[in-house]
Amino acid sequence: MTIRVAPSILAADFADLGKEIQAVEAQGADMIHVDVMDGHFVPNLTFGPAFCSAIRPHIKTVMDVHLMISPVDPMIEAFAGAGANILTAHVEAGPHIHRTLQAIRAAGTKAGVALNPGTPAAAIAPVMDLVDLVCVMTVNPGFGGQKFISQSRKISEIRRMIGDRPILLEVDGGVDQSTAGEVAAAGADTLVAGSAVFRGGASGPADYGDNIRGIREAARSAATVAGG
Ligand code: DX5
Ligand code: ZN
Repeated sequence: MTIRVAPSILAADFADLGKEIQAVEAQGADMIHVDVMDGHFVPNLTFGPAFCSAIRPHIKTVMDVHLMISPVDPMIEAFAGAGANILTAHVEAGPHIHRTLQAIRAAGTKAGVALNPGTPAAAIAPVMDLVDLVCVMTVNPGFGGQKFISQSRKISEIRRMIGDRPILLEVDGGVDQSTAGEVAAAGADTLVAGSAVFRGGASGPADYGDNIRGIREAARSAATVAGG
């Protein structure tokens, strides 16, 4: 199984984001995870479409935009226009997730669906044919640096639901070298990590490489043992 590592720029130096993005990509990042928060769906405010457009030229890999906003639909065109490759909406963000995912694909980007820790896997069963990515939250969304909440059974269940569809199974929140193994053994193939990637950067971006490789190796060896 290929393990992808997606650094969340929420933990990067906002005053130097172009450089931060280039540094993690040079050190092996597979995607750049952008956490969009609206102060309503989650108790924190971060980035909008203009911000995404500004950082887009610095991203050579994949711009993975995690929308922690409600409502989602009125903002889809703007984020797609800002160059997102994947737009992920929360299943809890409104009553019409099916419509939202259709609208994301219609806007020309890949569609993801995210689930909070309190939401069961069954909530996304009806939309499995409409998604390119499922994001299992292992913290309650809103902030970086929170403590990991184990979701192994849900991750395994979603891995079974995915079957042979080409859907990425992403895990987001509290992922570091000590938790990467557990989520990969359960079936996750895409690991978002904010604080665990950007820590130590003050002493030079080579630390980012050590952090990314550490997470990837912990995930790979656990996935191999689990037979993934
Ligand atoms: C949380 C965000 C995460 C966050 C992860 O609401 O969706 O992407 O940045 O940060 P860490 O890895 O520090 O838990
Ligand atoms: Zn996120």
